Amino acid sequence: MNHLKDIEKYSKLLSDDFFTKASGCYYTHENVCQNLCLQLKASIDVLSNETLSIIDPFCGDGRLLIKFIQLFQITQKWKVELWDVNLSGLEFASREMERLKSNGYSIDYTVFHGDSFKKSITHDCKFDVVITNPPWENIKPDIREIKNLPEHAKESYKLELKKLDGFMELHFPSSQPLKKFAGWGTNLSRVGMDVCNGLVKLKGLIGIVMPSSIIADSQSVTLRKKILLDFNILNINYYPAEAKLFGKADVTSVTIVYRNIASQKINPSITRYDKNLKVIEKQTVEIDRKFLKENSYIIPISHGIKTIEIFYKLISNSMAWGDYEASIDNQLWAGREVDETRIGNFLSEDSANMSLPFYKGRMIDRYALKEEPNLNYSKVGWVPPSSSKFLRIAWRDISRPSQKRRVMATLIPANSISGNSLGVAYFKNGDEKLLKVLLAIFNSFCFEFQLRNFLSTGHVSLSAIRKIGLPPIDKLLAYSFLSELVDQVIQNDDTQVPVIESYVACKLYNLSRAEYLLIIESFSKVTAEEKVAYIRAFDEINTTQLSLSV
Ligand SMILES: C[S@@+](CC[C@H](N)C(=O)[O-])C[C@H]1O[C@@H](n2cnc3c(N)ncnc32)[C@H](O)[C@@H]1O
Repeated sequence: MNHLKDIEKYSKLLSDDFFTKASGCYYTHENVCQNLCLQLKASIDVLSNETLSIIDPFCGDGRLLIKFIQLFQITQKWKVELWDVNLSGLEFASREMERLKSNGYSIDYTVFHGDSFKKSITHDCKFDVVITNPPWENIKPDIREIKNLPEHAKESYKLELKKLDGFMELHFPSSQPLKKFAGWGTNLSRVGMDVCNGLVKLKGLIGIVMPSSIIADSQSVTLRKKILLDFNILNINYYPAEAKLFGKADVTSVTIVYRNIASQKINPSITRYDKNLKVIEKQTVEIDRKFLKENSYIIPISHGIKTIEIFYKLISNSMAWGDYEASIDNQLWAGREVDETRIGNFLSEDSANMSLPFYKGRMIDRYALKEEPNLNYSKVGWVPPSSSKFLRIAWRDISRPSQKRRVMATLIPANSISGNSLGVAYFKNGDEKLLKVLLAIFNSFCFEFQLRNFLSTGHVSLSAIRKIGLPPIDKLLAYSFLSELVDQVIQNDDTQVPVIESYVACKLYNLSRAEYLLIIESFSKVTAEEKVAYIRAFDEINTTQLSLSV
């Protein structure tokens, strides 16, 4: 933590909470402590005469450990280690240990004041229980935070951070992100989790508080895979950002209880809490290993536990978008066309000279164009890409989690060009009917429901889209009449939207009514009226099929 020591003398030039943020001094909420400790205790198998060894390597004021010990009989013997870089927290924790001892608890404790990441790599003692909430910061200089420092202090701060990053990468490789951007990307919560993995005995237990990104983002794959395959996850608790558990920071968080032993079955008990910390759902979910392997080991909890199995069904009973692109028969192409950097230099009202009408993100709506292009794109020596010659699906790249629907896609005509605020897709054989059926799927609840689990930023990336399960091509062909309904919606007849949605769910993805309803309900901004319209359409399609088959 030399990067912090070095700039202590400039504290007046830094924001009031700089050191709190940089060292992750956000202590665990009382209810979260209680729930985690109870679950951890429920998984402990201990003989009353055995001494339990326990450590919190980032203990703060020791609250997790203290809460945990107090759940046991007073006769339980303890060997405790408390580590932290913050002295005042450790002093508080020590006083609490003394208090427990004077109340009759049998506790032999030691305190370490310093850097737990460094300490853990040489610490050869292993523990029955590791409980913690590690710091969650990214190792990355925050330019806004250090803008007032003298130049040399900024440089040496960055250098120390780089050294720290190198140290973490060397000693905790599983904690590393899938990709680093401009050389940064290490997050201390993942390193902290890896510290815990190294401190626990075989068959011992870990209870940890983490940002929810650990269970679903694309950066944490290596560590998540390790936890899922080398350990046995017993419980996951999910807390929404609105619960405001960490001061001003708006973060979703999880607690995970897991045992240091590999298990054939992956079947954690998952509990979801609401913003008032009341349980809204609790269920044991069997997670398929093959599915995990094929889907970056994500556990898609954020939209409801009951929907996890539907998510698996959508993904695994279909063909991934990426496989469609790879297949020579399907000839699907997806990508971006022209870069929008300094785009003004290449746009004009002039429609001569190989110039093409230019489409950009904000012109696109669901099944509609908000704006027709009034400028044309051309560039000296430029050859338009092959895609520009086709009718194609165009979707907006920017997509915020707060939007009612995050996918906004429609068709743009052949002989036009799009900027990179749009993604585009088309079939190379020029099959427009098939393309319109694909648009119906693209704009559907079933598609977005899958996609939301893969989106980790405010952009609809192609890498996320490539993971989406699509119905097999013969189904798309069998329901090619949907292309006519898509035409009607594009011409402003919104009444066909529930019909299209329901065909996609019922016929193309084979969902039951209950499954479809659960998916719709996971879209919190869809109104009650709209839900009724969607379900009515679904029922009609189902009934029609029944009467046909009688
Ligand atoms: C999120 S707080 C959690 C504290 C406590 N475990 C709790 O649950 O409330 C993270 C703790 O990690 C400590 N910390 C941050 N960096 C550290 C480091 N390099 N070595 C040891 N402790 C560190 C902070 O001082 C802080 O107390």
